[in-house]
Amino acid sequence: MRVLSGIQPSGRLHLGNYLGAMKQHIELQEENDCFFFIANYHSLTTVQDAVQLRDYTRDVAFDYMAMGLDPEKVALFRQTDVPEVAELAWVLSTVTGKGLLERATSYKDKVAKNIMPSMGLFNYPILMAADILIFKSDIVPVGKDQIQHVEMAQDMAGYFNNVFKCEVLKRPEWRLNDSPYVPGVDGQKMSKSYDNTIPLFETAKKTKKRIMSMLTDSKTVEEPKDPDSCNVFALYTLVATEEEVAALRERYIAGGMGYGDAKKQLAEAVERILGPAREKREHLESDPALVENVLQAGAEKARNVARGVMEEVRDACGLMTGKDTHR
Ligand code: ADP
Ligand code: TRP
Repeated sequence: MRVLSGIQPSGRLHLGNYLGAMKQHIELQEENDCFFFIANYHSLTTVQDAVQLRDYTRDVAFDYMAMGLDPEKVALFRQTDVPEVAELAWVLSTVTGKGLLERATSYKDKVAKNIMPSMGLFNYPILMAADILIFKSDIVPVGKDQIQHVEMAQDMAGYFNNVFKCEVLKRPEWRLNDSPYVPGVDGQKMSKSYDNTIPLFETAKKTKKRIMSMLTDSKTVEEPKDPDSCNVFALYTLVATEEEVAALRERYIAGGMGYGDAKKQLAEAVERILGPAREKREHLESDPALVENVLQAGAEKARNVARGVMEEVRDACGLMTGKDTHR
């Protein structure tokens, strides 16, 4: 199965990104033909500072590899290193109705928040469809918020094939990530836009401090507590073992444990994941050329596929000069 997903370099990655997206990508690398990329064209819709975009892009590569992505098994690359994607996006835009894009909820949400929409933001789903379709991807693992975009890619594949009477573009299927909702320190969805994240790479001390600052209700130590309405517990279920979760649940219900203790346990479980990754990242940072080589090798592999598909696309719609079309 060809699996493809992208992550935007639009800020420091956090535990929500890891548990909600990257972790699943890393698991999928074992048995699939995986293409994971850093969606820097997409980030231009929000990050318009060259230094920052370059830094975020490099950080995503470091973070992915530090968290366990194996470049021997996966093609990891920058979206811009496969420029055929932008070309396919143009072609798709000519077969896609404006009405489809006007129905995109993530676009509507941004407009509702008074963000002045650029054409890039409006066309975002077309570029995302091009990312997916240019590799004839079978499976696209995403978070809930991205399902509609993958469905639009399905539609666009259909439009293209219908208009040009061909079977060039393949219908992709979305796959929902295992932990679709990771709460932030304030209990809302963890997101860089809400300033409530637990970043993946900070010192152990800072990470612990962030966890200790999580919002809870004001029950005293003695009082029994409800694990199912507590965001500390919710996050614990995503990082601890089943036995640990069951044991903490009992302590909540029994009373006699303060939220501080629960947070300490959460901090330990988080550190079990982030501690080794932090060391690995330091090692990678000391050898940036290694990461650059990985990105270039990934781009080469991805581009070979993209070139072939783009040729089929051009052929199907008559953009190939000096060559008869397939019909
Ligand atoms: P942010 O909300 O911080 O801007 P993004 O929208 O860039 O994060 O998300 C990148 C990926 O991480 C997406 O696949 C998204 O579904 C996933 N993700 C981000 N935050 C969470 C969360 N709190 N819970 C689950 N998945 C998340
Ligand atoms: N829009 C996705 C996000 O914000 C990132 C992305 C861009 C993507 N292109 C993609 C994800 C293609 C999956 C497939 O999370």
